[in-house]
Amino acid sequence: MVVIILLKLYDMKKMIFLIFVAMNGFCLNAQDPSGTPPQTPGARPQQAKDLLIPLRTNNISLVYRVNGRDGRLYQAYLGAALDNTDILAQTRDAGHPAYATFGTDNLFEPAVRATHNDGNPSLELNYVSHEIENIRPDVNLTRIYLKDPAYPFIVTLFTKTYATEDVIEQWTEIKHDEKKPVTIFNYASSMLHFDAEKYWLTQFHGDWAEEMKMTESELTAGIKILDTKLGTRAHMYQTPVFMLSLDEKADEENGKVLAGTLGWSGNFRFLFEVDEKGSLRIISGINPFASEYSLDPGKVFRTPSMIFTYSDKGMGQTSRNLHHWAMKYGILDGTGTRYTLLNNWEATGFNFDEKKLTSILDDTKKMRLDVFLLDDGWFANKYPRNNDRAGLGDWQENRAKLPDGLGYLVKEADARGVKFGIWIEPEMVNPKSELYETHPDWILKLPNRPEHYFRNQLVLDLTNPKVQDFVYNVVDGMLTVNPGIAFIKWDCNRMMTNAYSPFLKDKQSHLYIDYVNSLYGILGKLRQKYPHLPVMLCSGGGGRVDYGALKYFTEFWASDNTDGLERIYIQWGYSYFFPAIAVCNHVTSWGKQSLKFRTDVAMMGKMGYDIEVDKMTDNELKFSQDAVRNYNRIKDIIYTGDLYRLVSPYKENRAVLMYVNRDKTRAVLFGYTLNSRYGETMNKVRLRGLDPLKTYKIQEINVSNEGRRGPGMGFGMTENGRTYTGNYLMNVGLNVGTGSPLSSTVYEITE
Ligand code: GLA
Repeated sequence: MVVIILLKLYDMKKMIFLIFVAMNGFCLNAQDPSGTPPQTPGARPQQAKDLLIPLRTNNISLVYRVNGRDGRLYQAYLGAALDNTDILAQTRDAGHPAYATFGTDNLFEPAVRATHNDGNPSLELNYVSHEIENIRPDVNLTRIYLKDPAYPFIVTLFTKTYATEDVIEQWTEIKHDEKKPVTIFNYASSMLHFDAEKYWLTQFHGDWAEEMKMTESELTAGIKILDTKLGTRAHMYQTPVFMLSLDEKADEENGKVLAGTLGWSGNFRFLFEVDEKGSLRIISGINPFASEYSLDPGKVFRTPSMIFTYSDKGMGQTSRNLHHWAMKYGILDGTGTRYTLLNNWEATGFNFDEKKLTSILDDTKKMRLDVFLLDDGWFANKYPRNNDRAGLGDWQENRAKLPDGLGYLVKEADARGVKFGIWIEPEMVNPKSELYETHPDWILKLPNRPEHYFRNQLVLDLTNPKVQDFVYNVVDGMLTVNPGIAFIKWDCNRMMTNAYSPFLKDKQSHLYIDYVNSLYGILGKLRQKYPHLPVMLCSGGGGRVDYGALKYFTEFWASDNTDGLERIYIQWGYSYFFPAIAVCNHVTSWGKQSLKFRTDVAMMGKMGYDIEVDKMTDNELKFSQDAVRNYNRIKDIIYTGDLYRLVSPYKENRAVLMYVNRDKTRAVLFGYTLNSRYGETMNKVRLRGLDPLKTYKIQEINVSNEGRRGPGMGFGMTENGRTYTGNYLMNVGLNVGTGSPLSSTVYEITE
């Protein structure tokens, strides 16, 4: 047994601390027995040494253990930070497998499964070594190397700990040096275990226009899977996120909670298995369904990041942890600012011309918004894009609608002091298009089967490098000709059906995975050339929302449903995992609520408009202009502040939440009465996150000038103008909400 500890200094700024524990018989460059059966079938590995690998953030400990008796890696602990992890060495119970394999003695769902060159369908993974790299003052990257003692098959477990944010990111790399390709059938990003009394899982599911519905259920013995098999628009029915409460149901302020999300824009799977002893294993990663992967020798298969946080102080804290992490590490320019938009989709649909668009540019200026975003319908000539049945794929300006091209609109926007943005859907094609006619082999569709359409369109075969170039050039070409384009909305309006790639030939089971990696390749290349251009991620509403994509996007379109009441629930759901700066909310004509109500709802995130400004009354226009001014004053609190969900619309006839800036000097509170029953009392709402010693002034904003009584108006018992201490606000609270259904209040709270 050799134990070497190396301390290396790479440069003055970056210190890398490498712990390398090499164990006889387990080293990475062991003799290659590829293609030959194990020398001594069934032999136990040589004696390894017990070893604890404690990983930490400020408030979470994750401890791995190498068990000397079998040389394998176990999860010894995951939960609230332990002061002293050495204590774990006393217990003889090794823990749970850190990355369970299949084929030998594992009786439950594996994290990884492979068949070797010689047909041996089993995998064993023993600990080889590990190293911890300090990549920022508060971020460590731990690599734990595991190897099959009988085959040159290596798995590296990566764990990145973000101390300040209390977030952990995990992924794996799978690699082998066998003579021929090895088929891998399971390839989890992360495997976690808990031993709790009970487990309460909250999932976030839905459909077009009803994204992120929350359902909580108790996990019982056996397996519960949250997954998707849609390929593209993959999150249409199920977003890759979950909350898990341990022992008892948690709420915002209390309870032990794990919040997890997979950064993968394709098929994902979270598998929760409760075993006969009541232990829970959570296996997260790409959905292995119909996706066995043939891995060439020497090639690395990297799994996407599983991002999670844990808190024993309830769901609110886990959300804030994820928000803090996302702003710094998860979303492109997550700590920057954002443009307010005027979009034309709800207002015009496909029906517009240059004159109409120029008048919308005037409206953008009149509303004091930053960008006019031109939506679908501006392109294609042989098969003009006048409805959703034609033109997708032909990304040239439609000459009838835009005789002077996009350049003219960019120029006109500039003349008005606003910016110009544009919608594209470059991964798709209509059968009625020139692209379809010229490149039928660029399209995903089954041979010997009729084409199957969704929104009259098909998916391009992004696994084909020629198609990747095409998609890149659609975007790059447009930005090269029109460098003034300041914003892009990137849409993806269908899932895969009849999925078959002409390019992948006999490797069809690679399609779901290669598609997503190809998409990331294109986005990565675009980001090299356009590192900061704001781009909105959209997929027929919220059909693609995850941190794998959001590295390349500044924001996402949460849902096509912009009805103010519906949005409260949809945005509530997203708020568990995604910070407000990334959630695009537009004021539109959906919903029967007042303009004030819809405006207040949109303000809870990245506000924009998609409404016929020229049809607004003078009062509505004035109200909206004031609202935009208010928004510009408070948006930094919403973008970067801490979110506190105070009253859940799932529990009461109200929804109340607030954002507090980091130094607790400014806050914004949004309150909604959704419905009200005769005689119902609305209790005061205790605020959170303020400084008890500070004194705060309460100012009601977005007050509707149409009166202060009745549905949709500012509410009667206003706290406007009052002054309270933080202590009072957090212990006694504020009046929020009226007896009027669909009314709302926004309070700006300032020290
Ligand atoms: C999708 C988007 C909408 C709009 C249309 C255009 O449905 O979610 O916002 O852009 O496409 O066709």
